Amino acid sequence: MSHSAEPLPMTARASGPLRGEAQVPGDKSISHRALILGALSVGETHITGLLEGQDVLDTAKAMQAFGAQVERLGIGEWKVNGIGVGGFAEPEGVIDCGNSGTGVRLIMGAMATTPITATFTGDASLSRRPMGRITDPLELFGAQITAREGKRLPVTIKGAAEPVPVRYKTPVASAQIKSAVLLAGLNAPGETVVIESEPTRDHTERMLTGFGATITTEITDEGRVITLQGRPELRPQPVAVPRDPSSAAFPVVAALIVPGSEVRVPGVSRNPTRDGLYVTLLEMGADIGFENPREEGGEPVADLLVRHSALKGVTVPPARAASMIDEFPILSVVACFAEGPTVMQGVHELRVKESDRIAAMEAGLIANGARVRSTEDSMTVHGSGGLAGGGAPAATHLDHRIAMSFLVAGLASEQPISVDDASPIATSFPDFLPLMQGLGARID
Ligand code: S3P
Repeated sequence: MSHSAEPLPMTARASGPLRGEAQVPGDKSISHRALILGALSVGETHITGLLEGQDVLDTAKAMQAFGAQVERLGIGEWKVNGIGVGGFAEPEGVIDCGNSGTGVRLIMGAMATTPITATFTGDASLSRRPMGRITDPLELFGAQITAREGKRLPVTIKGAAEPVPVRYKTPVASAQIKSAVLLAGLNAPGETVVIESEPTRDHTERMLTGFGATITTEITDEGRVITLQGRPELRPQPVAVPRDPSSAAFPVVAALIVPGSEVRVPGVSRNPTRDGLYVTLLEMGADIGFENPREEGGEPVADLLVRHSALKGVTVPPARAASMIDEFPILSVVACFAEGPTVMQGVHELRVKESDRIAAMEAGLIANGARVRSTEDSMTVHGSGGLAGGGAPAATHLDHRIAMSFLVAGLASEQPISVDDASPIATSFPDFLPLMQGLGARID
């Protein structure tokens, strides 16, 4: 299970200025990949700054089940002794990935070209999410796959004994699809090619390069063409995980909307494939400084200094969607505090995240007095410089980012905002509550 079975209601109330430093956790995407690539290397990978959220802990457990040794040495400090590309052993039990789409999809890719069989399951949210987008390309490598109706979990994969390399154009902009295909391609002979028409987060490519794989990216008329040479010997690497820009978004937006606030968020990844929210906030007039830009663990990072700001609504173009795909829930909150409409376009993928995030945000924001309209592929928030309402409970639908978004909204709305269940927050940001309270947020 990804979090406690008991729902955990929580309430956020109008707060005084937020002040101080927010040490947000390690990047979730990079943490999953560090464990998986560590398991696919021969020898010891040392990881620091690992996110110890439930999603990543489930991936660590899965890597053990496939035969890697995974050990926690201290806070965020882990070592993985891997078994090499093609070295995964058949797990004895079912692989439970809890709430994590990234975990299950990347691990399915990593085992699909090894001649072993594994069954994957997850919680109620993950069991509703589409897996055909992963199982379809994995079948092209020669894996045999059975799934529940609608290509949902549980999924059983009999890995290909003689995998063939694949050339695959991703049907939707998704780093999870790209990464699953690349990880499967590791144990196929020859070149595996992924073509994506919109760029998505590139942590897999960066980290594979760091671990010694030969992987190139070319920009062509078709889009980004990523070519991986199969059957590399991956070399263990020290991985310093930067802090997660998607988690940083919550204290950043809280500081922007609570009058008088000034919050510093150090060491946040500024990878351009993850930067869309920050680009958008600057366009809205946010006062955010990006100080001490530097490189850590192969990723650009900076210290953010955020002050309460008067904001205006903007239009977010579809081409930016992939670079901020997890940040639309919190953008829809900050949009309520801006003057004028904020239009989010090309966001259909939000419908198949941990929840239908368009429906969840629309319902909760309208109940709390906001003006929101949506289509299948867009959401528009008519901001009026504040959230005059509040007072209504919001349903989080087993979705950590929906829970955190409404709790941030409640810090600056007239009436308190409650969420029915804050327990999913532990999947990505286990210290969210003490961290926000430490800044002066009234959440209990
Ligand atoms: C992720 C990719 C995104 C994102 C998810 C993490 C990753 O999903 O929503 O939280 O680590 O690759 P998609 O690639 O399916 O858009």
